[in-house]
Amino acid sequence: MSIHQAAIFNRNPDEMVGSDYFYRTNFDETINKILFSLNPANNKLPYSSLQEYHELKDSDIKRNFLDSWNQRFYGTAQTSPYAPWLDEPRFREISAQIAGDGELFLDIASDFSMGMAPYILRLNPDVPCYVSDIDERTMRTLREYLQKYLPEYKISVASFDNNDMPIHDNSLKYVTSIDGVTSSTQKSDEYTVMSYCLGSEKVISEIYRILKHGGYFITCEQSFDCDYDLREIYENYSVHGKLFGIYTCDEIQSVIEDILKYSWKDAFEAAGFEIELEKKYHHRYSESELKQFMFRYTYYNKLRKWTDTEIALNYLTTELVEEICRAKSANEILSCKAFTNAWTMIGANVADRKNLEKTDVVNLLWEYVKSGSTSGNFKHENTGFDIYHVNALYVLKKPE
Ligand SMILES: C[S@@+](CC[C@H](N)C(=O)[O-])C[C@H]1O[C@@H](n2cnc3c(N)ncnc32)[C@H](O)[C@@H]1O
Repeated sequence: MSIHQAAIFNRNPDEMVGSDYFYRTNFDETINKILFSLNPANNKLPYSSLQEYHELKDSDIKRNFLDSWNQRFYGTAQTSPYAPWLDEPRFREISAQIAGDGELFLDIASDFSMGMAPYILRLNPDVPCYVSDIDERTMRTLREYLQKYLPEYKISVASFDNNDMPIHDNSLKYVTSIDGVTSSTQKSDEYTVMSYCLGSEKVISEIYRILKHGGYFITCEQSFDCDYDLREIYENYSVHGKLFGIYTCDEIQSVIEDILKYSWKDAFEAAGFEIELEKKYHHRYSESELKQFMFRYTYYNKLRKWTDTEIALNYLTTELVEEICRAKSANEILSCKAFTNAWTMIGANVADRKNLEKTDVVNLLWEYVKSGSTSGNFKHENTGFDIYHVNALYVLKKPE
């Protein structure tokens, strides 16, 4: 361990292995809590216990560690859908600056993909860095893989909670991240879906605190945006009734207001950062994504009491729901066009199954809906509003 690296930590770790620092957190309790607080239309996680979560994560690392490293290390904006900002001139400049300075940098909420670290290390493999995450077990597994495949790099690992960083004030010139604040933000139940930046004050102020004056936080974070035309929304409403047969004008207006109310820019500025760059990359939601978003929004905000039928309606195409209601047998459902459209998405070998009752098909579809794996072939209605999922790159400076 170099003294240079150890000097950033302000308290003793629960365990230290070489230059790796492990601080105990409540991560495992949080995973357990998530297991018991799922919404009814998304109540199947790939794991059913904490033990399984860790085992799945370990096998994920085993399968994907090298691919993930290579994808980032050799990636371009064209080959990296999650990093369209690789071509952004200010990003190229600041990553070259970090690489050129050669000073220790810290990546947060790194997971085994290690956030922005591969993009910096490809410019200068000798820069020392810490990659960190609240998930201690993942960081320990990552250490094994670093040892095995990338021993030539000066990558240390650490485990701590970004809401309480065990790091001295003004000690780092650069902190980097991909989805770091979005992931570690403490959301209240009501805002699990909407406002990625809501509740992020603590994490942002921790990052600000540990940075030196004149230092930078370079991060990519997620948020939402919307386009809307109130007159068109009302016109659509008066012609077609509720949106998708489910949502009222008030609910739509409430979504729009919430989306516009909170922004990363405001949250970063409130902490004292100077925003040198905010570059947004928009993905316009398809109709099925929009429906799922509206479901989660109204569900978590307790805006309506959902019945199973309404949830199914929300997740299947309107045509398919109508066909299911009309059909007298399983075969009638299986052979209708609306089912074939959904079926190709589901990808299950339903057609080969013999002796299915109508209720079997409905139950099967309902299972797919609940597992979150169904998305029908939705047409895009002109509803007067669009929601966008946004990935935004920020270059933030702590003033001199
Ligand atoms: C979406 S991943 C981040 C992606 C990753 N940076 C990358 O480059 O692919 C979210 C990570 O945040 C971590 N995380 C969640 N809450 C955290 C917290 N409070 N402090 C630190 N890490 C946290 C999770 O363990 C998870 O590994």
